[in-house]
Amino acid sequence: MMRILMAGASGMVGKPLAERLQEQGHEIVRLVRRKPRNDSEIRWDPGAGDLDVEALRGFDAVVCLSGANISAGRWTEARKRTLVSSRVDSVSLLANRLAELNDGRPRIFVSASAIGYYGANNGDRALDETAPAGEDFLGSLCKQWEAAADPARAAGVRVVHLRLAVVLDPSDGMLKKVLPVFRMNLGGPLGSGKQYFSWVSLEDAVHAFIWGIETEEAVGAYNVAAPYPVTNREFTSALGKAVGRVALLPAPGFAIRLALGEMGESLLLGSARVYPKRLETAGFAFTHPKLDATLRAIL
Ligand SMILES: NC(=O)c1ccc[n+]([C@@H]2O[C@H](COP(=O)([O-])OP(=O)(O)OC[C@H]3O[C@@H](n4cnc5c(N)ncnc54)[C@H](OP(=O)(O)O)[C@@H]3O)[C@@H](O)[C@H]2O)c1
Repeated sequence: MMRILMAGASGMVGKPLAERLQEQGHEIVRLVRRKPRNDSEIRWDPGAGDLDVEALRGFDAVVCLSGANISAGRWTEARKRTLVSSRVDSVSLLANRLAELNDGRPRIFVSASAIGYYGANNGDRALDETAPAGEDFLGSLCKQWEAAADPARAAGVRVVHLRLAVVLDPSDGMLKKVLPVFRMNLGGPLGSGKQYFSWVSLEDAVHAFIWGIETEEAVGAYNVAAPYPVTNREFTSALGKAVGRVALLPAPGFAIRLALGEMGESLLLGSARVYPKRLETAGFAFTHPKLDATLRAIL
């Protein structure tokens, strides 16, 4: 049994992850940005750098899933600052506090990252963890996000970055947004439809975090993407089939750019053909490797 401190535990991944870890007998304490409601919550304010160093003492592991929603709206300059600071300030504060603790320091720090690390302009190039960071907004954000853990690394903490692909579950995230559109028969390929879409089921994403916490040899960055990425056209057709509709209505690239700006360009028209090479080499088994079967299982 471990004592685990979690930030971002209220989110799409954090909630089921905390539940699963608790079912396994681990003790979970949540870092919250509001007033704590009970003894298993500790207040912090990552934006203001506010976290008592003593709060970290005695935990085995720290997990960080914090981050303002990347697809909630247009990426204005102000929004971009929030997207960066909500991730980088959170990891940086935790990593610095970990480094400051001399005794009773948690040994493990597992942090969310994203396959946005590789940038959105990779066409059909297969990407594993050795690919360089992209030079666009998300590439630079993810690079800073991972580098923010350096103080913990330097202090000897085992640091794991899980570069998540788009997490699929009908309860939240991307699938929750597009399902009503497809059910109304209004879904279809985006832009050329040839861009690659890397995805992972929520169950596998949660499992990857547990793996990262529990596997002593795990260290560094891992792609958390199902081993069979698809093109946008294949995704559209699989989702149409799964909800019993024909997904024919295409959304042209220029309309997406016009409506959603850089966010649409990067998240919907960008291409990410990402493979979970390090997880597979380590023997991690995906419950949901293929899209068709995954959509049938989760919908
Ligand atoms: N879901 C995906 O498809 C996906 C893909 C790639 C990467 N990721 C990354 O994985 C992590 C977890 O994803 P998720 O889907 O669970 O995210 P989520 O549902 O959006 O939740 C993230 C959590 O971050 C905290 N948060 C929100 N706004 C914040 C802000 N302005 N400053 C600091 N904290 C803030 C909230 O927790 P509290 O209110 O409890 O603090 C929230 O529950 C995120 O960092 C996300 O970027 C997710």
